[in-house]
Amino acid sequence: MEIKKNFKPTIKCGKLRKENIGNKVIVTGWTQKQRSLGGLVFVDLRDISGIVQVVFDDKENKELLEKSEGVKSEYVIGVEGIVRERQSKNPSMPTGDIEIYAQDLKIFSESDTPPIYIKDDDDISEDLRLKNRFLELRKPYMQKNLKVRSKTVNIIRSFMEENDFLEIETPILNKPTPEGARDYLVPSRTNKGKFFALPQSPQIFKQLLMVSGYDRYYQIAKCFRDEDLRANRQPEFTQLDMEMSFVDQEDIIKINEELVKRIFSEVLDYEVSLPIKRMTYEEAMNRYGSDKPDLRFGFEFKDLTYIFENSKFNAFKNNTKKGKSVKGIIIEGQSDEFSRNKISKLEKYIKTYNAKGLAWFKYENETLDSPISKFLSEEELNAIVKDLDLKEKDIVFVIADENNNVNNALGALRKKIAEDLNLINSDVFEMLWITEFPLLEYDEEEQRYAAKHHPFTSPIDEDMDKLETDPASVKAKAYDLVINGEELGGGSIRITNSKLQNKMFNVLGITEEEAYRKFGFLLDAFKYGVPPHGGIAFGLDRLIMTLTDSKNIRDVIAFPKTQKATCLLSNAPTDVDVKQLEELGLKIIE
Ligand code: AMO
Ligand code: AMP
Repeated sequence: MEIKKNFKPTIKCGKLRKENIGNKVIVTGWTQKQRSLGGLVFVDLRDISGIVQVVFDDKENKELLEKSEGVKSEYVIGVEGIVRERQSKNPSMPTGDIEIYAQDLKIFSESDTPPIYIKDDDDISEDLRLKNRFLELRKPYMQKNLKVRSKTVNIIRSFMEENDFLEIETPILNKPTPEGARDYLVPSRTNKGKFFALPQSPQIFKQLLMVSGYDRYYQIAKCFRDEDLRANRQPEFTQLDMEMSFVDQEDIIKINEELVKRIFSEVLDYEVSLPIKRMTYEEAMNRYGSDKPDLRFGFEFKDLTYIFENSKFNAFKNNTKKGKSVKGIIIEGQSDEFSRNKISKLEKYIKTYNAKGLAWFKYENETLDSPISKFLSEEELNAIVKDLDLKEKDIVFVIADENNNVNNALGALRKKIAEDLNLINSDVFEMLWITEFPLLEYDEEEQRYAAKHHPFTSPIDEDMDKLETDPASVKAKAYDLVINGEELGGGSIRITNSKLQNKMFNVLGITEEEAYRKFGFLLDAFKYGVPPHGGIAFGLDRLIMTLTDSKNIRDVIAFPKTQKATCLLSNAPTDVDVKQLEELGLKIIE
């Protein structure tokens, strides 16, 4: 009796090389492509490691050839055969020197015609790709990104273990965490009318772990934030979260620099030179109008407000409205690149960032050319040339507005021009710590201060006394790691002194009662011996985006959500049965 062959793979498709010539192998996978050429059938067979070509030949086995003619795209098959040298080699394929000369074929399952092709870079709508995510995940780019993700997490775990960090899980069913976004709520059946909040971060629990003496904690933690989504945000995302006791900001920065160096070296073979650059928040805002500047290109901001204090040109005049400014960037020696048509396109572009207009000055033949020269005085025009030290063929773009708007619009222009002039090198990683963030930011809508990071972040020592007298000027022991203009991580040294914490709540307009209701379990714990501590969290998804040069966060997450925070694959969120709602004591308001 013939023993039934089990068709288990003896090697992965993508691993086959010249060295395997003459070997008898079994490979399994999905049919990328099948071509029938009379007496020959070629199948490109794909598994997680790559693609290999299989040949069925009627000279070898006619019956087998006929069977292989029925194989279509995405059928799952197993092939037994001999590896042989390919006659026409394909240098664009890692396995392009060889092919498998088939001796046996098993069809594990058939496939309907798939609604999307399994190849990178098609122009199929993203909705269709998200709906058929299990097919999208078969594509090389997704497989590559998820491999990088898995590898990175492995590197992180080894690094953390080597450095005596303990991985500890914290609860998903929680009280609200103070990270400033909206909470995802989960109704409680056993306590009707009450709700859990999904964690925006493990912040409070990791601080409790410090109180309990676990002096180095980390976690690859799922976080949930109901906020407006962008290309680098998901409602459900992952942090590499950590916290350490008996440390200051320098200790946290140092160990994280070593971690970042290790990751970039092992994943990309890219050497990060340490220490990583630093810049205070104030300097970053002044030079780039952003707390996450992309340092791969220049175009630093020039503050020109003082030149136009008393200008006759209304748009530039400092009409004493608080926080109004006039700022510009110089593109050196490239005025020829900017035709009127090109400039008006740029103006349109920055108007989408709420800028009111875009003024420009070209310095050519030792004269300043600008459509608004006629509105400006001789002194103002001279100051532009002299103070900015303009050289032949420089062009200056200027935006005047409320300071935040100028920063946003000019920042967007800075990036757009760098892209248009092809100045962004995607092989380079410009890393930067931003330090000395303001402790607070003023919420115009609510007419009160809010914590810039979170309410447990400590002021810097020099500013402790100013918390009540001049809160806006207080700087924090808070730091962000920025890579190529993206905020990859942020953290702080925490407040562990209850008097200081109460002052902080006070400034934030949180009453003692409210503070206790929200964070009493942390404040109470601090009464029983709290070590000085601090930490940081990296957006793991954003880190993987950077490592894989992905433009969208969805490209590094197996099952992501849409911009509207839905899952097109499973159709979540969905209606629930009335019975379920009743059990929870809930009613839908139409
Ligand atoms: P923070 O709120 O700055 O700090 O978050 C840390 C990092 O998490 C990433 N991140 C996100 N990634 C994807 N989608 C989102 N919606 C999203 N929101 C944040 C960012 C960010 O830098 N508990 C503090 C950390 C600490 O103080 O230790 C915290 O969560 O990359
Ligand atoms: P207007 O008088 O509004 O037509 O503006 C004359 C020129 O000044 C146009 O080129 C505008 O783009 C520019 N401009 C107007 N407002 C601003 C502003 N707030 N900042 C920079 N340029 C401006």
